[in-house]
Amino acid sequence: MSHHQHPLDVTTLASWEALRQHRQTMQSFSMREAFRNDPHRFEQFSLSSGGLFLDYSKNLLTHETRDLLVRLAREAGLERAIHALFEGEAVNASEGRPALHTALRRPVGDRLLVDGVNLIPQVHRVLNQMTELVGRIHDGLWRGYSEKPITDVVNIGIGGSFLGPQLVSEALLPFAQRGVRCHYLANIDGSEFHELSSRLRAETTLFIVSSKSFGTLETLKNAQAARTWYLAQGGTESELHRHFIAVSSNIEAAVAFGIREENIFPMWDWVGGRYSLWSAIGLPIALAIGMANFKDLLSGAYSMDQHFLNAPFESNMPVLLALLGVWYGNFWGAQSHAILPYDHYLRNITQHLQQLDMESNGKSVRQDGSPVSCDTGPVIWGGVGCNGQHAYHQLLHQGTLLIPADFIVPVVSHNPVADHHQWLYANCLSQSQALMCGKTRTEAEAELRAKGLSEEQVQRLAPHKVIPGNRPSNTLVMERVSPRRLGALVALYEHKVFVQSVIWGINAFDQWGVELGKELGKNVYQRLTGHEEAPAEDASTQGLIDYFRGRHRG
Ligand code: F6P
Repeated sequence: MSHHQHPLDVTTLASWEALRQHRQTMQSFSMREAFRNDPHRFEQFSLSSGGLFLDYSKNLLTHETRDLLVRLAREAGLERAIHALFEGEAVNASEGRPALHTALRRPVGDRLLVDGVNLIPQVHRVLNQMTELVGRIHDGLWRGYSEKPITDVVNIGIGGSFLGPQLVSEALLPFAQRGVRCHYLANIDGSEFHELSSRLRAETTLFIVSSKSFGTLETLKNAQAARTWYLAQGGTESELHRHFIAVSSNIEAAVAFGIREENIFPMWDWVGGRYSLWSAIGLPIALAIGMANFKDLLSGAYSMDQHFLNAPFESNMPVLLALLGVWYGNFWGAQSHAILPYDHYLRNITQHLQQLDMESNGKSVRQDGSPVSCDTGPVIWGGVGCNGQHAYHQLLHQGTLLIPADFIVPVVSHNPVADHHQWLYANCLSQSQALMCGKTRTEAEAELRAKGLSEEQVQRLAPHKVIPGNRPSNTLVMERVSPRRLGALVALYEHKVFVQSVIWGINAFDQWGVELGKELGKNVYQRLTGHEEAPAEDASTQGLIDYFRGRHRG
């Protein structure tokens, strides 16, 4: 029986109880001391894979902790679950389908049979279709209605049809092919549309309507607005196919919109939106950096897949990151997790991981519908360093919350300016060091005395200068940001999220929680526009509707 049909209550496992007890003995654990006592701590709690180096030695962790966490993974059936994921079992139980983003990165010639059909040739057929389109656009063979080559590509999509492509195409800007600029139109806010369209020329712009369902409100409204704009700028209906293409698993809806069938890039219901940048949803990426770089991105992800599949849990990067998250979330009361990239090109990774993690693991029932008995996914937040140091890091250092953090930093910059990269790297390391070491009362007092302050002043100021320390973090280091390393990095987090979902027994691949807001949005819209006269269910919503209508009357 596969894990999703019979989720166990993880809190009843022997290893869970052992971890609970171990947590008590760890109350007095000091990272600072642990480093002092063990000269090999760094080597023993670090590893590399796929061009990424992970240092997880700055955690509230001993060998025993790691052993117990790995035991938990085993008892929770992780090994079986990983195979179920890769082999295309219906790990997304509520929608009765597999989640096969890993199939998108497998080499041509591989075989993956799902319901008797080998999926890998389909994947590579679409990659070839992408290669052809990207080549025609880069070579100036694809022309707009006035026979000019395409200079700007606008991806119209939201959620997974936006965040992954945006992260990657902007992170890999140093690999950009000359000639094509990529833009993103996601929100239904007309101001976003206005600001973007006013910078574009219709005759040289190609729109990609990127929507797995081809039913997403924001995307369809923006696609309609783009079509209206294109016609107003001088484009014609008969040449519309030169300016609008689509990526979707809903071919009929895309055709009904007016997109030619040969310009619709298929995707499949076995790829989730937030896991789809590796599919044709990645077209803007391929247009930005070229197909060879896009394939390097896939091969980087593939190497992380192989590591995840084959490495023992004790030295398995996604498994370890996931288990550390479980350790803090379920045994130390941490409710959030910070993602802190120290690299301009990786600045959007926090947003991508927000969707990846929170839409996947923001769940309260297990695969069989029974309520979970422990906390699940944390709040993911953060942003680019050093900027965060001058904003929210104060709370990381001296706030009352325990917030584990991932620092991500390349050792080589694409754009060396004087000694900036040395300072950037130094800041990254000193933040994790400060989180770990903190500053004791004795140290704070000594510092103040050294400044020549009176004893009264020393005593008054010292409590404010104390920094508790012992706050955990991981540091992910890589060479220069490249397609392969970025592919491995994103796949690392995909698998981390999956491992946690297995531990908690939840479905990482559905997102029913977003549906209610969509439904209610329609009701409110009907009342705002006067198509429905019956009052809203509650006085607050009705009051706010009246406020809007009062302004728009007459
Ligand atoms: O509403 C959330 C969501 O369903 C995401 O899961 C998805 O990535 C996004 O909307 C966009 O969906 P689509 O690609 O079907 O337009």
